[in-house]
Amino acid sequence: MNIQTEKNEEASQKPQPLTQMRILSIETTAVAVVEAEGSYHNTTFRVRGNALYSQAKKHAAFGGVYPSLAKREHAANLVPLLGTALRDAKLSIDTIAQKLTKEQKEYLQKLLVREEGLCHALVTYLEHVEKPTLDAIAVTHGPGLEPALWVGINFARALSYIWNLPILPVNHLEGHIIASAVHAEDQSAQKYVVEEITFPLLGLIVSGGHTEFVYAEDWGKYRVVGATRDDSIGEAFDKVARLMGIPYPGGPELSNLANKGRQALATRPAHLMSVIKKMPRPMLQSGDLDFSFSGLKTAVLYQVQELGELSDIQRHLLCAEFEDAVRDVVITKTAQALEQYPARTFVLGGGVSANTHIRKGLEKMFASNELGCTLRLPAEGLSTDNAVMIGMAGYFMHLRNAPTLDAKDDLSATGNLKF
Ligand code: KG4
Ligand code: ZN
Repeated sequence: MNIQTEKNEEASQKPQPLTQMRILSIETTAVAVVEAEGSYHNTTFRVRGNALYSQAKKHAAFGGVYPSLAKREHAANLVPLLGTALRDAKLSIDTIAQKLTKEQKEYLQKLLVREEGLCHALVTYLEHVEKPTLDAIAVTHGPGLEPALWVGINFARALSYIWNLPILPVNHLEGHIIASAVHAEDQSAQKYVVEEITFPLLGLIVSGGHTEFVYAEDWGKYRVVGATRDDSIGEAFDKVARLMGIPYPGGPELSNLANKGRQALATRPAHLMSVIKKMPRPMLQSGDLDFSFSGLKTAVLYQVQELGELSDIQRHLLCAEFEDAVRDVVITKTAQALEQYPARTFVLGGGVSANTHIRKGLEKMFASNELGCTLRLPAEGLSTDNAVMIGMAGYFMHLRNAPTLDAKDDLSATGNLKF
């Protein structure tokens, strides 16, 4: 047997080449390029480009996310975000000989008729770059704020049409779940891995748009088993922050002030204990897995009205009490949810999962292993909305052979995404 034959035999005994995909992913305010490789049980994701636009400043003036503003903002930024993500991924090759046909331009105009300026910017861009080497486009399909979602969806359809790429219509909540399930193997190089996840899985998605328990028997098989009846957790953070003069999005800053409040309590407890009234922990006795945060927000409002102009220490203590109340609700409801839906893996996802106080509370709860359930929290940068998680979820859709769509499909009619 010569060396060459031996080598060939070795090669033939090796497992088949792993599935690989390079995905352009589009989230409401972000575009990324994600390379995925492997199976459900061992996937590696490499982030090649990740352009994120923060709308926070514009929305700060209004104290929240405003759908029409979000839509306009989003439309104006998609092409620059796309350009940045592709350039970072070294997939943007300039060309001057890429004129679109009249028919192509007309089709794009029809598709993007509601998005002022986006069509023109996109046509100009497309005429100056070569088709990048990509396998698919993943786009957030829902649930979320309709107008902003549609900009992303139509943008994906436009690119799919010109570049002839399939569309993976991703469920935003699955994106958050996967973002919590992955481990950052190499944060600087943006490499993430998912090892074996043991099902059933219970997820709690806590963001500005969502507060939902999601139960999953397997990837792709989700059921919402509890949700907020009014404000989301993120909204509660943002509204309470606003009451205290903290600009949108108030969650992170409110949490900083709460820390100061807890530090003060630790050093001078007797004097400070009665400064702030105890806030309610809503819905702990509701018997279901629903939440309600508007009452807690109102309790903070009454307390602010009663105290009048807040001193620094009052503000810090009020933030601490509010954050404690939210943490207590999250922890107690999670314990109740795990009783009803015994899961082997629990994930917290969404913007509020960046909250250190809530993370620590859950880590303590899961530390003893008594629950027989593993806690997974998102790596830094994957808590708040991002396009990377959409690319990851798109790959998982591909692995389970979920139908892809093309530009001509009516994406609003896809039933496969419903929980
Ligand atoms: O997931 P996300 O980026 O967008 C939505 O889907 O809404 O979540 C944004 C929300 C905002 O309400 C923001 O205040 C909140 O997440 N948030 C936090 C923290 N970081 C972000 N809330 C509390 N503590 C944090 N550290
Ligand atoms: Zn989100």
